[in-house]
Amino acid sequence: MQLEGRSAVVAGGAGGLGGATVRHLTELGVGVVVLDPAAERAEALAAELGGHVAAVAGDSNHDDAVAAAITAAQSLGTFSVCLSATGVVIRSPRLVERDGTVMPKHVLADNLTLHVSGPFNLARLSAAAFAQNEPDEDGQRGVIVNTASISAFDGQATMAPYAAAKGAVVSMTLPMARDLAPLGIRVCAIAPGGFLTPRVSSPQVQALLVEDVLFPKRLGQPHEYALLVEAIVRNPYLNGEVVRLDGAARLGPSMGHGASRRGAADRADPTGGVA
Ligand SMILES: NC(=O)c1ccc[n+]([C@@H]2O[C@H](COP(=O)([O-])OP(=O)(O)OC[C@H]3O[C@@H](n4cnc5c(N)ncnc54)[C@H](O)[C@@H]3O)[C@@H](O)[C@H]2O)c1
Repeated sequence: MQLEGRSAVVAGGAGGLGGATVRHLTELGVGVVVLDPAAERAEALAAELGGHVAAVAGDSNHDDAVAAAITAAQSLGTFSVCLSATGVVIRSPRLVERDGTVMPKHVLADNLTLHVSGPFNLARLSAAAFAQNEPDEDGQRGVIVNTASISAFDGQATMAPYAAAKGAVVSMTLPMARDLAPLGIRVCAIAPGGFLTPRVSSPQVQALLVEDVLFPKRLGQPHEYALLVEAIVRNPYLNGEVVRLDGAARLGPSMGHGASRRGAADRADPTGGVA
């Protein structure tokens, strides 16, 4: 899809991966609405980037907030792209700890609300708006990009709820693409490995995440995620696909499992499941 004259809604646009994408799309001339409950960060980013970026303080689970974001995007161009890059770290223990502590049931519901319901809601309401667009020469009216995680495939100890939610993002990609193909709307998801964003700020966690990366031996840069969003939007033949973006990282059984191999005691995931 050509980007000229288009606009986008980025849910989680005040965060690490979302924010990098807001900056990148803006540089490419796309009008962008940052939909994020972190009002101060969203407004600061919009103010910094100027007139082609607007902030809507809100939650992608809330229809009113999504509708306001779509209306704002329609005033910045032909609204044709939505991206969900939403998240907060929801810490969880193992399903049952050695001391008998049981993972609270709400952790699963919290993860599903944040990582599945919000993106689902943004996708369905955006698709309804895209359906009104004139198709381009390939018949395209819009593109939906969701953010899964490599935890959907190799979820580690303590991450069952997060992995279940990200697995749902993976699983809904193809049926959404099938639902929306008659309308000329594509759907893809990105499954990142460890990226350098504010939720991965601890040097200890960064070092643990890098252990599983093959090459290049470092965490991903948010700009590299934004480049993949651009590629998905531009390439009409990418559809119904989940793309891993992880330096060929394959996660071991638990965060810090390399330390176990080196003889240190096994330890619980200190990250709350970031990847
Ligand atoms: N950073 C990583 O290493 C990594 C790895 C794999 C997957 N991911 C996934 O990528 C996504 C973004 O991660 P990040 O590192 O940029 O996180 P981040 O914490 O930097 O940013 C997330 C943003 O989402 C916003 N947000 C939270 N709930 C929202 C909602 N309901 N509606 C709209 N916005 C909401 C937050 O306010 C925040 O600004 C998450 O889904 C995360 O699970 C990240």
